[in-house]
Amino acid sequence: MEHNNFLEAFKEEHKIIFNNLLSLKDAVERKDTEDAENLVRFLDEIMGPHFRVEEEALYPMLAEYFGEDSVEHLLEEHTMATEAMNEFKHNIGNKQYMVERGEDTLKKLQGFFLHVTSCDGLSIIIEKFSDRQKKNLDAHLTKVRDEAIPLTVWKQGI
Ligand SMILES: [Fe+2]
Repeated sequence: MEHNNFLEAFKEEHKIIFNNLLSLKDAVERKDTEDAENLVRFLDEIMGPHFRVEEEALYPMLAEYFGEDSVEHLLEEHTMATEAMNEFKHNIGNKQYMVERGEDTLKKLQGFFLHVTSCDGLSIIIEKFSDRQKKNLDAHLTKVRDEAIPLTVWKQGI
């Protein structure tokens, strides 16, 4: 993904995130701690810049269409996803956790799936943005990708 066209990158990342979440679900069902740990690490890395560009640049632009409350709701979903990722990061490599909390992990992953699909639907609105807004999104995407901070590091303390 060398291009930094925001909309293309946004949709491409949703596909990558979704596919890796499916693989993670599969790993949890197989109780494969090593696979699960690697997938969580990868997801943490890709979700960091993705969440950042959404929260820092995209969501403020959406307030105009949806109102502040809906944007607040999107942010709450991100907080829940971050909490889950933090828990996975520290525990998913642990066999006992996988056995005892596997069902709970799968439930949390279902919440992720729904968020990814509804987030991807925002592309309908992004297409309508002005050139200036699109340029701002492109520039912010370049910045967060360069900084490449994993989600659980960026959101430390959540
Ligand atoms: Fe997203």
